[in-house]
Amino acid sequence: MNPSFDILIAGELYPDLILSGEVTPSFGQVEKLVDMADLTVGSSSAIFACAAARLGLKVAFVGVCGPDIFGRFMLDELSQRGVDISNVIIDPHCQTGLSVILSRPRDGVTGERAILTHLGSIDRLVAGQITQELLQKARHLHVTSYFLQTALQPGLPDLFQRAHALGLTTSLDTNWDPTETWRGFDELLGGVDAFLPNENEALAISGASNAEAALEILKQKSRVVAIKCGRSGAIAGRGGETARVKALMVQVVDTVGAGDNFDAGFLYGWLNDWSLVRALGLGSACGSLSTRAAGGTSAQPDLEEAVRYVSSYG
Ligand SMILES: Nc1ncnc2c1ncn2[C@@H]1O[C@H](COP(=O)(O)OP(=O)(O)OP(=O)(O)O)[C@@H](O)[C@H]1O
Ligand SMILES: [Mg+2]
Repeated sequence: MNPSFDILIAGELYPDLILSGEVTPSFGQVEKLVDMADLTVGSSSAIFACAAARLGLKVAFVGVCGPDIFGRFMLDELSQRGVDISNVIIDPHCQTGLSVILSRPRDGVTGERAILTHLGSIDRLVAGQITQELLQKARHLHVTSYFLQTALQPGLPDLFQRAHALGLTTSLDTNWDPTETWRGFDELLGGVDAFLPNENEALAISGASNAEAALEILKQKSRVVAIKCGRSGAIAGRGGETARVKALMVQVVDTVGAGDNFDAGFLYGWLNDWSLVRALGLGSACGSLSTRAAGGTSAQPDLEEAVRYVSSYG
């Protein structure tokens, strides 16, 4: 049977409410006015899902939200972008999570942010909710926001094993560990085919002092590793092969979700057997291009646009 989906994402979904202005909030019933209020697609998993769908991949999402306006907003946004949401669980006993982001200008260009997050349903998904029947419908399983999805963590090594047994490949982007303990990775990374940390995460997990050394250590565990290095670009390795690409010079508005957009581009190339450097180039182009507008989804490139920037990578 041919799988219906290229990628299944087991993830969290919640909106970001971004309030922007030259304002510092004060308690004591002080009302201040902001310049803009935007409700946007938040959560790493959802931003990744939209990026992958925009590139033309067939994407399905499994996660938990509440029966409320924030959940409905996220489901509408995902489905408008072509992501299959039929496996999202609407749990009547929980509320969809929310991040409120206060953004004010700094240096006149990029904003500095204060973030208040209500977890709600963000940490509710458990591995048992991802059935064999659902896994069988996909070629690849992607997990991100590992540290926010605390109920998913204990079952993840077994989930990756089940995925492998059914012929899927797997990928993981941890994002930052707020406790900075980075536990459980030895067991987990053995089940991850494509590992996609950023530079700080790669250094923390490997104990190495630079990205190249981290790559050498991490690629002993996963089949392919790509490390995101912000405006310096990215490096990747598999077996004896290493590749490096620069970031694109773009007019950066905000870097929210750049890592998730990178992941979608890199996995597009990797799943389609592109050369390592070309897959890395597509990842980097998708990451850079996504920074041209506020939020993680408004400047996501389609495949045609992203590929135009990749040809120089080989
Ligand atoms: N300031 C920037 N200018 C140009 N490109 C950028 C910039 N920041 C990020 N990128 C591109 O996006 C890719 C991923 O970004 P980054 O290294 O910030 O990932 P991350 O830390 O995982 O992001 P996230 O905050 O989404 O978790 C980079 O490899 C680069 O290609
Ligand atoms: Mg990241």
